[in-house]
Amino acid sequence: MRPRPPDREPFFHCVKIQWDQVESKDRFPFSIPAIQNIEVLDLHPAVTFLIGENGKGKSTLLEAIAVRLDFEATGGDAEANFGQRPLDGGLHDAIRIRSSNFRRPADRFFLRAETVFILATQLDRKARKDPQVLRRFGSQSLHNRSHGEAFLAIVQNLMKQESFFLLDEPEAALSPSRQLAVLKEIDWLVPAGCRFVIATHSPILLAYPDSRIYELGDHGVTEVKYEETEHYKLTRSS
Ligand SMILES: Nc1ncnc2c1ncn2[C@@H]1O[C@H](COP(=O)(O)OP(=O)(O)OP(=O)(O)O)[C@@H](O)[C@H]1O
Ligand SMILES: [Mg+2]
Repeated sequence: MRPRPPDREPFFHCVKIQWDQVESKDRFPFSIPAIQNIEVLDLHPAVTFLIGENGKGKSTLLEAIAVRLDFEATGGDAEANFGQRPLDGGLHDAIRIRSSNFRRPADRFFLRAETVFILATQLDRKARKDPQVLRRFGSQSLHNRSHGEAFLAIVQNLMKQESFFLLDEPEAALSPSRQLAVLKEIDWLVPAGCRFVIATHSPILLAYPDSRIYELGDHGVTEVKYEETEHYKLTRSS
C-alpha cells in the first residue's frame, strides 16, 4: 500500500550564506561564482535539484550543507563516524539552514560516490555482531556487489520513511534502467514524507515533476524549468 501523504512541511526550508562571517570571497570555495552569488536558497518541499556544468560548485554546496547538518564529509547515514570533517572556515561554517520546528527527519543520508564503500564497510561491521542486518541484502556483503548494484540496494533497502537525503550524482553508478528504478524509489519516498536535495546530470532523475531545479553557473544560481534545461533539450533533440 502506498504510504499516507504527510503534510507538505519540508524539514529544512532554506539554505543561507552568512557573508558577514566570510573573510574573503577570493579564496576557495567562496571564490566559486555560483557560491558567491547565493544569499538564500529556498528548498522545495519535496525534491530540490542542483544542476550545472562540471566544476560549477554543486558538490561543494551539497557537502557544505551536509557537514552543517553533522554528516561526515564522505557521506553515510546519521551514524557514520569516520572523522572526516573538513577544515574550519569552509563554506559549512558560513551556511545556515532554516529548519522546521514541527518536523524532524526520522533518519538522514548523504550519498556520494565514496559512500557506497563506507556504508558497505559499516554494514559488514554491524553484521559481525548481528548477521541478520545483511538479510535484506541476500545475506551477502555489499562489497560483493558491483558499485551500481550496491548503490541501488542501499537506496531500496536503507532508505526509510520521513527521512532527509542529500544525493551527489546518484546516477553515476547506474544504467538508465536503474536510474528509473531510483526515480521510482523517490516517487515512493516523497509521499512517505522523505525530502531530497540532489546534485545531478541525469535527464532521467531531473524529470521528477514534484521538484525545483537550481542551475549553478558563472552568473550565480538560477531557478530553471525542466524544459529549459540543457539535459532536456539535448535528450529531446537526439
Ligand atoms: N579543495 C579544493 N581547492 C580548490 N578548488 C577546488 C577544491 N575542490 C574543488 N575545487 C574547485 O571548485 C569548483 C567546484 O567543484 P565541485 O566539485 O563543487 O563542482 P561540481 O559542480 O560538483 O562538478 P561536477 O559536475 O564535475 O561534479 C571546481 O572548479 C573545482 O576544481
Ligand atoms: Mg560534483
